Amino acid sequence: MSPSEKKQTYATVIEQVKALLADETDIIVNMANVASLLHESFGFWWTGFYRVEGEQLVLGPFQGPLACTRIPYGRGVCGTSWQRRQTVVVPDVEQFPGHIACSSESRSEIVVPVFAGNAVHADATCAADRQVVAVLDIDSRYLATFDDTDRCALEQIAEILAISY
Ligand code: SME
Repeated sequence: MSPSEKKQTYATVIEQVKALLADETDIIVNMANVASLLHESFGFWWTGFYRVEGEQLVLGPFQGPLACTRIPYGRGVCGTSWQRRQTVVVPDVEQFPGHIACSSESRSEIVVPVFAGNAVHADATCAADRQVVAVLDIDSRYLATFDDTDRCALEQIAEILAISY
């Protein structure tokens, strides 16, 4: 997919996510449909959510093969994104110390934190207080799949989803 096709596809997905969430507030329903939309639109290897439960991430709605069910705080790419409260882009999973290999097919990965609440209503101080409630994890069969276009679009989707919390 060319860079411009990628941007166009994300623009379409974001409009679909907004439309879906306008009619539904249940977070599991919304995570399930967001995972499906992204997975089908881009043909990723694995697309899904882990939800924060105490000191662990617990597997949530996803598309793709079976996955690890629980990830401790600070572990793997997902636990690192939660700990840093930032998106983590991994061009080559074999180069990421502590990467959790749920599948040997996965070669690159992006993990985006989902914060509770709506950033639109948060000032700088409030934003720092927002809790990470989940992470969106996407795996690719190819090296270096994810760039700033993915980061920017997926962070927007995470913000739209945050309204459900
Ligand atoms: N690779 C992830 C674990 C989740 S699976 O890829 C679905 C990680 O290191 O956090």
